[in-house]
Amino acid sequence: MPVITNIGDLKRIYARRVPKMFYDYTESGSWTEQTFRENTTDFDKIRLRQRVAVDMAGRSTASQMIGQDVSMPVALAPVGLTGMQCADGEIKAARAAEAFGVPFTLSTMSINSIEDVAEATTKPFWFQLYTMRDEDYVRRLIERAKAARCSALVITLDLQILGQRHKDLKNGLSAPPKLTPKTIANLMTKWSWGLEMLGAKRRHFGNIVGHVEGISDASSLGAWTAEQFDPSLDWGKIEKLKDMWGGKVILKGILDEEDARMAAKVGADAITVSNHGGRQLDGALSSIRMLPRIMDAVGDQVEVHLDSGIRSGQDVLKALALGASGTMIGRAFVYGLGAMGQQGVTRALEVIHKELDTSMALCGEKAVTNLGRHNLLVPEDFTGRWA
Ligand code: GLV
Repeated sequence: MPVITNIGDLKRIYARRVPKMFYDYTESGSWTEQTFRENTTDFDKIRLRQRVAVDMAGRSTASQMIGQDVSMPVALAPVGLTGMQCADGEIKAARAAEAFGVPFTLSTMSINSIEDVAEATTKPFWFQLYTMRDEDYVRRLIERAKAARCSALVITLDLQILGQRHKDLKNGLSAPPKLTPKTIANLMTKWSWGLEMLGAKRRHFGNIVGHVEGISDASSLGAWTAEQFDPSLDWGKIEKLKDMWGGKVILKGILDEEDARMAAKVGADAITVSNHGGRQLDGALSSIRMLPRIMDAVGDQVEVHLDSGIRSGQDVLKALALGASGTMIGRAFVYGLGAMGQQGVTRALEVIHKELDTSMALCGEKAVTNLGRHNLLVPEDFTGRWA
């Protein structure tokens, strides 16, 4: 067993184990991938302030997200096709999150269904909703999430239409993979993935197949988005969904001060500052660069979480110090899952926890809730105004 000390180690094992189509799905941004790249490189521009001779005994990363206790403020983000990275991937990731004491978010576009994950876990998880043209289907999805006792509805607002990712089109991304000479040649080199997948509970989108009538193709995210996702989603519809759900609501995909104000106005319990991991509007600013402006706009009105670009505990610390109450990791846990299943997700969480705890101590702070801008040196243009 290799010694895993950072998220990059998990990524290298992941790249060897998982079929190219699913690796590329994870490792893509839209179009030129500028936003995808800057989501991580912008974190490096923020520097930490070292402090010494502060008593560090009894420090803690424990906190709360939307009023729920967390062992560290890091939730697993909703990631489509997680069950293609590893057999029963959503179940394994949810179990790892539950044992670690952090929230797991199940994507609408998951392979394991809401019911599969509810059956395999004991604590409530969060459910992420994409809004569809078929209002009846959306209503039934919400009812299913309620029946599964999900403790938050995460409504994703930045994917009414899909940003183009070149590799997914070239690879013919689908779940399960369509067997062509090219995919067969690649799958033959990924035999341990394939063997496990033969025993998987599901190999199709579990929240969709068997739940929607007259679907023409439920194997491709691209085709499904074009056909089913609701391009007319607006704030009025968001309010209706919130009422239909009746519980905690997190609005994910906010990257602008005005949208943040609207989200606070409709009464979101939290917003997630996110550009969908650089997978939607290429050319948009990185999430971490937008965070200070959004905190200035709504930080006193609504809880703010940060998603997109987090690959380490230091990144988590920077987001918290800029004012976020919580963060989400997507790729960082998927690398672990593809590399080593449930154990790999646990390892990813352990790595991030250790990095967060140690860096917090070296910054002279005993609690994540004490972190603030005083811990950072932030480039001036992170707080600038739009032209
Ligand atoms: C969907 O959520 C995607 O980014 O692929």
